[in-house]
Amino acid sequence: MGQTQALTALVAMGTLSDDPRPALYPRARRGSCARAQSGDIRLMPAPIPLSQPDITQVEIDAVLDVLHTPVLSIGPKVDEFERAVARISGRRQAVAVSSGTAGLHCAMLAAGIGAGHEVITTPFSFVASTNCILYVDAKPVFVDIDPKTMNIDVTKVAAAVTPRTKGVVAVETFGHPEGMVEIEQVAQQHELVLIEDCCEGFGGHVGARPIGSFGRAGVFGFYPNKQITTGEGGMIVTDDDVFADYCRSLRNQGREGMAWLAHQRLGYNYRLSEINAALGIAQVSRLEEILEKRRKVAHAYMERLLDCRFLILPTLFDDTHMSWFVFVVRLNDLFEVGDRDKIMQDLRNEGIGCNNYFPPIHLQPFIAEKFGFKPGDFPVAEYVSARTLALPFFSNLSTKQVDRVCKVLIKILEKTLTGRKGRF
Ligand SMILES: Cc1ncc(COP(=O)(O)O)c(C=O)c1O
Repeated sequence: MGQTQALTALVAMGTLSDDPRPALYPRARRGSCARAQSGDIRLMPAPIPLSQPDITQVEIDAVLDVLHTPVLSIGPKVDEFERAVARISGRRQAVAVSSGTAGLHCAMLAAGIGAGHEVITTPFSFVASTNCILYVDAKPVFVDIDPKTMNIDVTKVAAAVTPRTKGVVAVETFGHPEGMVEIEQVAQQHELVLIEDCCEGFGGHVGARPIGSFGRAGVFGFYPNKQITTGEGGMIVTDDDVFADYCRSLRNQGREGMAWLAHQRLGYNYRLSEINAALGIAQVSRLEEILEKRRKVAHAYMERLLDCRFLILPTLFDDTHMSWFVFVVRLNDLFEVGDRDKIMQDLRNEGIGCNNYFPPIHLQPFIAEKFGFKPGDFPVAEYVSARTLALPFFSNLSTKQVDRVCKVLIKILEKTLTGRKGRF
């Protein structure tokens, strides 16, 4: 079964339709007939998923090779993958883990963050960037975002520092590294431990600095919607040998040496298997090709949507070399709160995958309840969050598919505003 067929089959079974990240279009099937509202029968075009990994024979062979050996865990592939990621991120050390979330958890512990500490972070991200602070019983202190970069607003960070502040978890939202240099400076001035949540930015640069090279440590994620994937997996990168050794111990049940039943500390099983690492090595070997394909898709979207008067496109900066994780557009202020969700439904009805990256973290029910956050607390993040729309984005998205997404989207946007009293 080919990749597209497999995905289509999964969608048809509804298996993936509830997954918030690679949310695939749940209804239309390739060439299937659908009854339009008017009652007539029409042929639906093939659905376009939100996300799809880029897996070739290189990756399949690499995984099969490992399966022909007896070493499926704790072996040479993990070491090789770690060396490759350390090189790309410009770091001395890399520690492979079972997910980006696991990596962030280890990083919090290795940074000595715990109960009684405050950690500054963004309210506009995937929830794991805050959850890691909660895992160690520290308190997240949210700082509102800059609408251009969608990252934490650097100018507001210093004001959030208190005597209890121990660290900053700075996220490169959608892989955008702009502002990271300045955040690093603020963290240094206030002697805070900076952890770079670079789960969305593998392969990008700001100036000469690779993503992953900021602060005490960076953490990558390799879920299948990322630039490169290991199925599930993550990587902590750092220049601090002690920090790296501590993370190695944490991921391996608190062991420090080779003795299997000697545990120096409370640890976890956060190891990455040899199979996943082999997949990662193969993906890294194709990194330039994958990033170039993603760049072309992003540019194709930019060209087609640049003069659309209803949208705000990703802001690019001269010194920033994005590695393009997703393509997220923002509805402009002609739209009302609630429009975005209807637009997403209309897109899905047309077989186009999309999602609302990201709902504000401070308003996620368990976080709002725990800390008493309410709507209006972080107005920029909330404003942006109500209007962002992630469109299908992956390396093998064809120009024809980008054309279709843009045409359908523009039609839906025009329809949404038709009949409204407005300024357009
Ligand atoms: C910003 C950010 N942080 C952390 C994570 C967690 O990574 P994982 O899903 O590998 O646990 C993600 C994953 O999507 C992410 O986007």
